[in-house]
Amino acid sequence: MGVQEQYRDYVMTGFVKRVEPVVADRGDGAYLYDADGTEYIDCFAGISVTNAGHHNEKILAAAMEQAQKLVHACSYVYHVPSVGALAEKLAQITPGDLKKTFFGNGGAEAIEGAFRLAKRYSGKREFLAIESSFHGRSFATLSVTGNSGRKKGGGPYMPGVAFTPTPYCYRCFAEKDPDTCDLLCARRVAEVARLHLSGDVCAFIAEPVMGEGGIIVPPEGYFRRVKEILDEMGILFIADEVQSGFGRTGKMFAIEHHGVAPDLMTMAKGIADGWPLSAFIARPEIADAFQVGDHLSTFGGNPVSCAAAVANIDFLLDGVVDDAARKGEAFMAKLRELQKTQPLIGDVRGKGLMVGVELIADPATKAYGTAQAGFVRQYCLDHGVLIGVGGNFGSVLRIQPPLVIDDAQLDRVVATIAAGLGAAAKTVA
Ligand SMILES: Cc1ncc(COP(=O)(O)O)c(C=O)c1O
Repeated sequence: MGVQEQYRDYVMTGFVKRVEPVVADRGDGAYLYDADGTEYIDCFAGISVTNAGHHNEKILAAAMEQAQKLVHACSYVYHVPSVGALAEKLAQITPGDLKKTFFGNGGAEAIEGAFRLAKRYSGKREFLAIESSFHGRSFATLSVTGNSGRKKGGGPYMPGVAFTPTPYCYRCFAEKDPDTCDLLCARRVAEVARLHLSGDVCAFIAEPVMGEGGIIVPPEGYFRRVKEILDEMGILFIADEVQSGFGRTGKMFAIEHHGVAPDLMTMAKGIADGWPLSAFIARPEIADAFQVGDHLSTFGGNPVSCAAAVANIDFLLDGVVDDAARKGEAFMAKLRELQKTQPLIGDVRGKGLMVGVELIADPATKAYGTAQAGFVRQYCLDHGVLIGVGGNFGSVLRIQPPLVIDDAQLDRVVATIAAGLGAAAKTVA
């Protein structure tokens, strides 16, 4: 039986209508190879995970060395050297006063843990989140996810959650001109907290650059204003860096673009270049709120994943993150050039190599270009480039390649997207 038949008959595939016919066999840098040898430029990096590239020799060597010695011991029962080393490193590279880390396996688990800790510390129970956000697929994380497409069929969700407007300049909820923007979306955080919750607000969770929502970059000043409001109201700020962390946006963490230090921060995806691992980190006085028996994860802080993460961070710090910032700017400049002659492109936005191209079916109404985005994604796949699609209406092309992608590969990506848009303009009604 071939893998496609095995998937059809034996694997639960609960996300896409059809798993891509690509048989992911081998990776190398920014390339992914099908079992039949077909080469793809991987501009989705396993949903923004393999930031340091597929088959990164340095990271593999560190993981293999650890695997030869010990694969599992339970990092919360015994002292594990790679866990200690990674925790110390995270305290050094994260912004502000974040110091102590808890390790888990996936992003949703990290957020669940951060919520548990935030509740313990504050004694409060309610949460604020953003309307088009995505935070995972567990009960609590879906409850704070605003992106309704991800929530269908799973309700009712956790009570005590309220949503603030999406800081989405291209489709500003207040229809403000970006030049005269007075950050109403940030100021509304105070109103929503007061009017829609019961005065028991524990934390506000937000993605510093929103991923699944369609690569939305909040405007300059948004997080500074929000943090002032949260501090005035005694509400903690949890930065969800699961997707935007580890160099993805041209800084180690996307919140650094906003000049704000969170109280807690969640991480996963790019933390170990594909080895399963997640983490949340907190200011020391918050971290110390956990009481005996409060929290554990059997597999969390796996020794091999932590060794890989240490090597991953060293690799990224060696100029890779800065280079991603440069490459992302050049890449977006080329897409903006394309936008001048391609009316299907409504907006090009992003930071570093977390790039979104929002397609519109009609420039006059900005109607969502959902069918066009699906067409271009398929066109790119058929022509050797893997990209993602996101946004509440699936109209945003998402380009989030390994950060080691080179300029020539990025030029091929621009050319393929341009050709795909040309074909979409002729084909899709
Ligand atoms: C911002 C954000 N938070 C949390 C998650 C959930 O992570 P995981 O799928 O590892 O549970 C995701 C996944 O896409 C994400 O993008």
